[in-house]
Amino acid sequence: MTGLFIALEGPDGSGKSTITSLLAEYFKEKGIDHIITREPGGTKIGEAIRKLILDTSNTEMCPETEALLYAASRGQHVHEKILPALQEGKIVLCDRFVLSSLAYQGVGRDLGIEEVKAINDFAIKEVYPDLILFFHVDPEITLRRKTRKIGGDRLEKEGNQFHNKVYNGYMDLIKLYPKNIKLIDASKSIEEVLAQSIAAIEEKLREREG
Ligand code: TYD
Repeated sequence: MTGLFIALEGPDGSGKSTITSLLAEYFKEKGIDHIITREPGGTKIGEAIRKLILDTSNTEMCPETEALLYAASRGQHVHEKILPALQEGKIVLCDRFVLSSLAYQGVGRDLGIEEVKAINDFAIKEVYPDLILFFHVDPEITLRRKTRKIGGDRLEKEGNQFHNKVYNGYMDLIKLYPKNIKLIDASKSIEEVLAQSIAAIEEKLREREG
């Protein structure tokens, strides 16, 4: 049996990372074989690329380079880690995947959704998530969460205009590619967001068992 590929998506400050760790605990308790991973990164090569992309001193990085580096990290991730785990029947829980590139680089950086999708299609060879949990939260809330946080990486440091564009991009993408996307109301408490996420995963698992 092949495993289940789940991606978590959403704007910065939507709480994905917290829920990713809580879902890992849930899988452990249930004795479900899984791996937890993230993008950019997930492999030795991917983590090196991550450092390069998110380094705040890389102010001269052009959008094309940024998009190609995310896709390069993703290609390595899929071939080295995600695909083998799926072939072993594991659940793969990935913090961000292609939809992030379409929203941040395609829309946020104005490179075009189709253009960014093309380089990603090349990198990942059709390995798309079976389920995308999209953490929806009003941009005003993420902005408040963000301003409370000190520092931040190169992308997080982008202004509100960029992050609003990313949010609108995500909203368009949900309409454009609704397949396998489950909307999670991430404005709720952590417990409620976790419960919604678990319910979506269990529904998908039941669906697969047929
Ligand atoms: P992430 O590790 O999710 O940051 P955090 O855990 O701090 O929320 O992602 C780092 C940044 O990279 C984030 O601002 C989103 C951005 N990003 C893209 O622009 N394109 C992509 O394809 C991915 C995966 C992330």
